[in-house]
Parts: sequence; C-alpha cells; structure tokens
Amino acid sequence: MSTKARTKLAGPVALALLAVAARAAADDGALIKKGEQLYDQNCSVCHQADAIGKPGFAPSLSNPELLSVASDKFLMSTIRDGRAGTGMPPFSHLGRENVRAIVAYLRSHPHPPNRSAAIDAQPQSHGDPRLGKQWFNDICATCHGVNGDGYAAGGTGTAIGTSGFLSKASDGFIRTTIKHGRSNTRMLGFQGADGLANLSDQEIDDIIAYLRTLPRQP
Ligand code: HEC
Ligand code: HEC
Repeated sequence: MSTKARTKLAGPVALALLAVAARAAADDGALIKKGEQLYDQNCSVCHQADAIGKPGFAPSLSNPELLSVASDKFLMSTIRDGRAGTGMPPFSHLGRENVRAIVAYLRSHPHPPNRSAAIDAQPQSHGDPRLGKQWFNDICATCHGVNGDGYAAGGTGTAIGTSGFLSKASDGFIRTTIKHGRSNTRMLGFQGADGLANLSDQEIDDIIAYLRTLPRQP
C-alpha cells in the first residue's frame, strides 16, 4: 500500500476504533447501572447506600484499599457463597451475570489500580502460629473476636477466622490488608507511621500462620 493510501485510510480506521471504544464505554455504563440497581435491591440494606458499610454490621464495599486488593474472583465468589456463620448470605440465585454487574458497580467507585494479581501471587506466609496467636489475642481480637469470630463477638472487625473468608483470601490479600489497613474504617494498618502498631513482616506472617489454623479448630 502506498503511503498516500495509508494516510487516507488512517482517518476512517481511527474513527472506527473510537466508535468501538465508545461502544465499550457505553456497555460498561449499562453494566454499572444494572449493577447499581441490583446492589440497591439486594445489598444496601446491610452494606448501606454507596456501599460505605456500617461498623459492626457490614463492611464497606466501596473502600479503595479493598477494591485495589480484592480480585474479581474474591468478590464474585464471596457474593455467590456468602460467609457461613456470619450475616453475609449467599447470592448464588442472582446468577453469574448479575453478580458480575454488581462487581462492576462496586469497581466504579474511585480506587487505586487493581493490584490483586500481584498480591495473590505473593509467596505464602512462613510463620509461627503460636507467636501469631499471641499477637492476634493482644491486638486483633478486640475487634475481630477471639478465634476471629467477627461481629458475633461484639467487635467491629469481620469474621477473619472463618473458612468463608480464609478459603477465598490469599496470604497476599491478608498480608497487604494487615500492613496497610482500609482507609476510613477502624482497620488501620499495622506497618508504618500511621499504623496502629508497627509489626514486622515476620510478625505479620506469624499472624497469618495462626489464622490458617483457625477453621479446623472446634
Ligand atoms: C443481611 C446483611 C447482608 C446483606 C443483605 C449483604 N451482605 Fe455482604 N456482608 C455482610 C456481612 C455481615 C459481611 C461480613 C461478614 C464477616 O464477618 O466476615 C459481609 C461481607 C461481604 C463481602 C466481603 C467484604 C470484605 O471486606 O471482604 C462482600 C464482597 C459482600 N459482603 C458483598 C455483598 C453483596 C454484593 C451483597 C448484595 C448482593 C451483600 N453483600 C449483601 C452482610 C450482608
Ligand atoms: C480497631 C478495630 C480493629 C483492629 C484492632 C483490627 N482490625 Fe482488622 N478490620 C477491622 C474492620 C472494621 C475491618 C473491616 C473494614 C470495614 O468494616 O469496612 C477489618 C478488616 C480486616 C481484614 C479483611 C477482612 C475481610 O473480611 O476482608 C483483615 C485480614 C484484618 N482486618 C486483619 C486484622 C488483623 C490480623 C489484626 C491484628 C493485627 C486486625 N485486623 C486488627 C477492624 C480492626
């Protein structure tokens, strides 16, 4: 093809690509709108309008750190299966497409880039569960309950000792959440200047090792 012909084509090709991009954006818009409606019907009674959550009742789902750390798989399977033994019911009856729309709506809230792929690929924890148990009882149990039972124990933290959470969260997910926390919730990070305490990487892995022993206990 001559240069001239190529320049002639460039305009229409670019326009066609723009049209494709515009259509994709419109599709996204429709999906998000559908997800918002489904959210308002099924979820807002607990997770509140705009998914801001309510301490001790249901976590925020529009939290920027959650949306940056959680994969679509984590969100979709948690919504599908719920968390047995907590107030989070299963929504498998909504079907995959509707759950996908809800996740698209949640992700339409402002958040840093989705880092879940790198976070889920982090190495597994290598820790001492006995040391982790001490840390947990000293600094986590007031909010998450002894054994990580969650709200049932009267605190504001979720049920991180149950298999409903542990079977879906990678060690990287748990590690990143412990380090950096979730802004505008009671879950402050445990590393760095504005952390609740300054835990070392090893201490955090000890806690994860302890959490991994919990669902098998009576
Ligand atoms: C009856 C109240 C209730 C309803 C309705 C409800 N949830 Fe939940 N949800 C909860 C509670 C309570 C938790 C925390 C469970 C725990 O302690 O681990 C939760 C946890 C979650 C989590 C995990 C969040 C995290 O921080 O890891 C997701 C995702 C979620 N819900 C999505 C939804 C969606 C989407 C809907 C609607 C389709 C919904 N929930 C409806 C009560 C509810
Ligand atoms: C002051 C209360 C508080 C303390 C102390 C606390 N947390 Fe949390 N944690 C929370 C709350 C609240 C959330 C959920 C945020 C929300 O409600 O939106 C949370 C969420 C989490 C999550 C994500 C759970 C999920 O359902 O997705 C993990 C993991 C976690 N905390 C681990 C820990 C560990 C480990 C410790 C101790 C080192 C700890 N937290 C100490 C309040 C606390």
